[in-house]
Amino acid sequence: MSGHLYGLGLGPGDPELITLKAWRILRAVPVVAYPAPDDGASFARSIVAPWLSPAQIEIAIRIPMEIARFPAQEVYDQAAVEIGAHLDAGRDVALLCQGDPLFYGSFMYLFGRLGERFRCEIVPGVSSLGACAAAAGFPLAARNDALAVLPAGLADDALARRLEACEAAAIIKLGRHFARIRALLTRLDLADKARYVERASLASERVLPLDAVALDEAPYFSMILLHRRGEAWK
Ligand SMILES: C[S@@+](CC[C@H](N)C(=O)[O-])C[C@H]1O[C@@H](n2cnc3c(N)ncnc32)[C@H](O)[C@@H]1O
Repeated sequence: MSGHLYGLGLGPGDPELITLKAWRILRAVPVVAYPAPDDGASFARSIVAPWLSPAQIEIAIRIPMEIARFPAQEVYDQAAVEIGAHLDAGRDVALLCQGDPLFYGSFMYLFGRLGERFRCEIVPGVSSLGACAAAAGFPLAARNDALAVLPAGLADDALARRLEACEAAAIIKLGRHFARIRALLTRLDLADKARYVERASLASERVLPLDAVALDEAPYFSMILLHRRGEAWK
């Protein structure tokens, strides 16, 4: 019988935010796969490193960071072949996912390739949205508020249109876009209604007003939360 594929959400970074279910499955599977940069360590793996066993087979899926989503397809194709071979041989495979697997997670590309051929279970994780809101003490939305999740790579006019159409927003994937996004929010008179959150739930976590961020570039694991009515919950 073929193995089970598990998509394990591991939460935003603090190992205490892993669910009991993900932890149980992680310790039981013979094969563990995870996304990793070209060279260097995998963030998802680092969250659970103390619980990995030397007996487990590890597959690092090396995704070149500079390429956009579609050229990465070959990497996922190859990973699907490698993982599929373990599943065909009856070995269960856990795919580690930072945050939640289905919230902007690369897990979905392997799920798309393997999810119909093999039995698959997805274990949700604490997403960065909830983690950043908790870190900043900044409620995401209430009552009839519409909350938009906006990737920072969108063009300014698209971002401005979408910000106009919602009460609250989370702007993710800041990185090299940070200075442009801050300028846009300043122009839209939203900068003082926003919070910058970096590496939520980790020891290096930082929460700052936008004008206190010294850098023009933010780390990859950062986002801006804002509410058009300011701290509307007060
Ligand atoms: C590709 S998405 C992955 C999201 C992840 N699957 C989740 O559920 O949160 C990566 C973006 O999520 C946000 N992010 C993830 N973890 C974060 C953290 N610990 N602190 C701040 N932002 C985080 C950042 O905006 C980052 O660019």
